[in-house]
Amino acid sequence: MPNQENETIIELKAISKRYGLGDAESYALHNFDLTVKRGEFIMIMGPSGCGKTTLLNIIGLLDKATSGEYKLAGKSVERISSRKKAQFRAKEIGFIFQSFNLIPNLSVIENVSLPLIYSGYRKTRRLKMADNILEHFHLREREYYMPYQLSGGQQQRVAIARSLISNPSIILADEPTGNLDSRSSHIIMEELQEIHSLGNTIIMVTHNPALTTYATRVINMLDGEIDTDIKTVADQDLPKPGDPEKISVRILSKKRPVELEVDSKTKVVVTGKNVTIEDSSKPKANEEPKEETDSEEHKIEVKKTSKKPAAKPEKKRSRVGKILDKAKSKSKSKKKEKES
Ligand SMILES: Nc1ncnc2c1ncn2[C@@H]1O[C@H](COP(=O)(O)OP(=O)(O)O)[C@@H](O)[C@H]1O
Ligand SMILES: [Mg+2]
Repeated sequence: MPNQENETIIELKAISKRYGLGDAESYALHNFDLTVKRGEFIMIMGPSGCGKTTLLNIIGLLDKATSGEYKLAGKSVERISSRKKAQFRAKEIGFIFQSFNLIPNLSVIENVSLPLIYSGYRKTRRLKMADNILEHFHLREREYYMPYQLSGGQQQRVAIARSLISNPSIILADEPTGNLDSRSSHIIMEELQEIHSLGNTIIMVTHNPALTTYATRVINMLDGEIDTDIKTVADQDLPKPGDPEKISVRILSKKRPVELEVDSKTKVVVTGKNVTIEDSSKPKANEEPKEETDSEEHKIEVKKTSKKPAAKPEKKRSRVGKILDKAKSKSKSKKKEKES
């Protein structure tokens, strides 16, 4: 599937947002068409008041268009119930704002765990998840600080951690670096770039033309319409999600050496001298050990056999990548630990 184009995730057709009536009538968006492929990193620029925030709010289901059609993941938004919309927003969309929008009377860890309230997890679990993501943002030692005790850059990193905690596939960022110095802006951009390289879709509003180098597409808006729209990365070269790498597992047993190839979602559990391969795609009841060695000496070797090609291979891994890859590497490190 290397040259397959990514699916369309967002489709706006003739979207208008009107304010006021009669003489006072004005359009924040006017007959706006936009098709977004999964894996695009779009930067939106344009003068103040041209409709950038309105556009993000409509895409993020925070606001409704006056007319036009909006299809999200192939479904007409008009036909999605408000309950489903709220669920989709909580699970799939992460918002980052210029003013961070942290809740001032909640600690850092409480802020970050907030989106999980709708996840059904218990509070201790939610705080543990927030603790994990904060650790990877190097903010663990500030977990119990209040937002006002942090610098702007730190507050924005907390806000990004919060926007990522439910592992959304679409990130909407409204001038996320607008209130930051250039060093903090750079750190934030590195984080966003990492999230993007994992196949997520990012739409970001910015006033800073220097940041557009991170984008795969730059749209300039004027008076509620698209002025220019330039793609710098072809659709077929965008990063793709859900393309798990294959891992080859070798169980080196004296009697019965086994070699098998699994994808990175498969769980390999080592208990003493027993090895269980759990296929995560199967329901729990059907889970059965597929390979079990005798009670003899054995070793396990894990090798990556293929890796999906990154869209921008020159980019180095950073903290967020490590968080999001954590699940993948967990089983591998467990195996290493228990190697006998
Ligand atoms: N609630 C509102 N009532 C009336 N006009 C609004 C409202 N929100 C936004 N607008 C107008 O819509 C236009 C686009 O606003 P906005 O999307 O915030 O622009 P941008 O983010 O590009 O600065 C502006 O002219 C703004 O005044
Ligand atoms: Mg705005």
